[in-house]
Amino acid sequence: MQNLRFSRFFAFSGRRWQSTNALKSEYLDILGERHATDDITNVTPAILSKIPLRLHSQPNHPLSTLRSLIESHFPDYAHLSSLSPLVTPFKNFDELSFPKDHPGRAVTDSYYINKGLMLRTHTSAHEVEVFAQGNTQWLLTADVYRRDEIDGSHYPVFHQMEGARIWSADASGMKEVEDDNERLSSHLTRSNIAIEDVPHLSPANPAQPMHDPRHSELIAKNLKLSLNSMLLHLFGGVAGATKENPLRVRWIETYFPFTSPSFEVEVFFGGKWLEILGCGVVRQATLDTANVPHKIGWAFGLGLERIAMVLYSIPDIRLFWSTDARFLSQFKQGEISKFKPYSKYPSCFKDVSFWTAQDISVHENDFCDLVRDVAGDLVEDVKKIDSFVHPKTNRTSLCYRINYRSMDRSLSNEEANVVQQEVVSRLKEQFRVEIR
Ligand code: DAH
Repeated sequence: MQNLRFSRFFAFSGRRWQSTNALKSEYLDILGERHATDDITNVTPAILSKIPLRLHSQPNHPLSTLRSLIESHFPDYAHLSSLSPLVTPFKNFDELSFPKDHPGRAVTDSYYINKGLMLRTHTSAHEVEVFAQGNTQWLLTADVYRRDEIDGSHYPVFHQMEGARIWSADASGMKEVEDDNERLSSHLTRSNIAIEDVPHLSPANPAQPMHDPRHSELIAKNLKLSLNSMLLHLFGGVAGATKENPLRVRWIETYFPFTSPSFEVEVFFGGKWLEILGCGVVRQATLDTANVPHKIGWAFGLGLERIAMVLYSIPDIRLFWSTDARFLSQFKQGEISKFKPYSKYPSCFKDVSFWTAQDISVHENDFCDLVRDVAGDLVEDVKKIDSFVHPKTNRTSLCYRINYRSMDRSLSNEEANVVQQEVVSRLKEQFRVEIR
């Protein structure tokens, strides 16, 4: 796999420690249903409170406009957006050919309600179900959940859009693909776009063994043409692309467990290359499981926040969750406008240093979830500034620096102190740490 890099879209931290962030109650009520908790439960109230919000369906919200813009580029596709975020780990991982030891399954990286139920980590979790319902071309928008660090571009809840198209894997299906490729090519050659391409298939990024490579080539070509055209629609106008200064798009070979060949796509915008999406030719196992074994096709998945942040110049990912009129009133459905920041309030830095208990480790994501749960969106950034193991006692010492800053108002030092004290007391209670 020399020429491949593992996609950063699904890059999880390697360490796996048992989370102790478990909620104490024996059950959780989510979307009107009661679920038992168990020893791996690690969802926090802060996370659960986001489930009903559905920003992608909130009129005038930048995420909702972005979703509509993409949907309008695929008018004949089914547009889905109301699937529950609660899925089985089987559906999130196994159905998509993720290996049993994939780090994404770890409790440090994903949110579990209990052993049998989790918050989806990506919209791909619904591929089998959507294909099984008979959809042959579709888009699906949804909230997804991943445990992660805290900074201006990471939030544990974000939004993805999945898209897919399949055809009959026979001569008539392939004729349709060829016709569509011709139509799309003639449109794109007349457009203001410059594409850095890679081969549709290569030894490191091959067709699947059961596929006729010529079919796989045609599908990969259709995928590239369809997405290049969508990206031009999305970025071309805002970027002011012209013949002399075209929109630059580059394709990169990558690896996903559920596609082959697989690609990542980047767009040159605001002076740098921006990762936009992952995609590829759908693994036949996925289509077999969906009971459409005689089909072949492609799928892609993109993160809406990442794209909206650059298109609207939104500097901090927390802003998407703001209910402040100074944020929300700036946006109109269907329009991409530049966000005008309404002043930046001062930061308040607080450090906490502690020795971890002998028998409980504190994963960075555990620490971040605890802070997020106490401080909500008052936390802007968390950095580990020190970590060492005492050579004699073998105990670990950690020091974290938390940056508290409200997006809507000035936060007093006293207020930050109260929040910090609560963080410290929860740390002591949940992880039995010894504050230094
Ligand atoms: N689900 C992937 C992620 O979240 C993105 C993705 C990659 C979706 C390839 C796809 C695909 O449908 O074909 O990282």
